[in-house]
Amino acid sequence: MPTVSKSKSTPPAARKPATRKAAAPVAPKSVSVDGKARYHEPAPKGIDVEHFRQVVISRRSVRKFTDKAIPKAVLDDCLDMAMLAPCSSGLQPWEFYVVKSAEKKAKLVKACMSQLAAKTAQELIVCVARTDRVNEFSKKMLRDWPMPDVPPLVKRYYQLIPTLYTPGPLNSLALAKKAAFTLGGFVAPVPRGPHTREEVKLWAAKSTALACENLVLALRAHGYDSCMMEGFDEVRVKKLLKLGSAAFPIMVVGAGERAEDGVFWPQVRFERSLFVHEI
Ligand SMILES: Cc1cc2nc3c(=O)[nH]c(=O)nc-3n(C[C@H](O)[C@H](O)[C@H](O)COP(=O)(O)O)c2cc1C
Repeated sequence: MPTVSKSKSTPPAARKPATRKAAAPVAPKSVSVDGKARYHEPAPKGIDVEHFRQVVISRRSVRKFTDKAIPKAVLDDCLDMAMLAPCSSGLQPWEFYVVKSAEKKAKLVKACMSQLAAKTAQELIVCVARTDRVNEFSKKMLRDWPMPDVPPLVKRYYQLIPTLYTPGPLNSLALAKKAAFTLGGFVAPVPRGPHTREEVKLWAAKSTALACENLVLALRAHGYDSCMMEGFDEVRVKKLLKLGSAAFPIMVVGAGERAEDGVFWPQVRFERSLFVHEI
């Protein structure tokens, strides 16, 4: 039977979000497994799956919003929850631009092809994937490591990641790495990427999209709604936000209170046999 004792670490989800009132502190613990002290974060019990289901089921793409504002504390809370999404290597390759300036908002609506969802949204949040912070964030991860000592394997991992995820000028490094990993792949399973610029872009987009989903579910849980939009002019949005060449807007999320006729038709999902396979 493992024994449980206190350690210095605090899980990120247990840290007090900037916008919330002080939550009861979660006592960080460690557990002894086979005589070794291990970090212990118990799985919470008693979460109501029906409440979760209600949030998931009632989330719809809303294309017409009322003029009720979203309180800042609510939006901040949703953004905090967005950033608790899982992310590849823990490297958080996302950014969220909450567009407040009326002038910029008008330009963004235009860049979103003046879609009703954008025009009527109380808030427009541009969700951006970044590929240029791998090195910086790998170093930060080692500095901010939430336990007194960084395990040697973790240290090696974050020292290696920047090399792995850097395509180099004109994908030169990427092609060399691809060749090396392809050869290695004949002998044993190897990671096949991300190496090229496009692969690293996809790498960042995957994690950012997960954060977007957290964002819209959090909005729903707070009683607000959203519309994810990729129908926008990327060049114009990048220019508006002054994004560099390694930052990509992957979605604009329009958010607000659902208008009575804000959902245009019932949800369509095809039969599960088209998608779920047991092998
Ligand atoms: C990546 C992505 C991009 C989308 N882009 C748009 C968009 O530009 N405009 C829009 O009205 N809806 C957009 N949607 C919403 C989809 O049309 C919607 O999710 C889909 O029709 C299913 O409806 P539901 O979200 O109500 O379940 C987008 C959704 C996703 C996930």
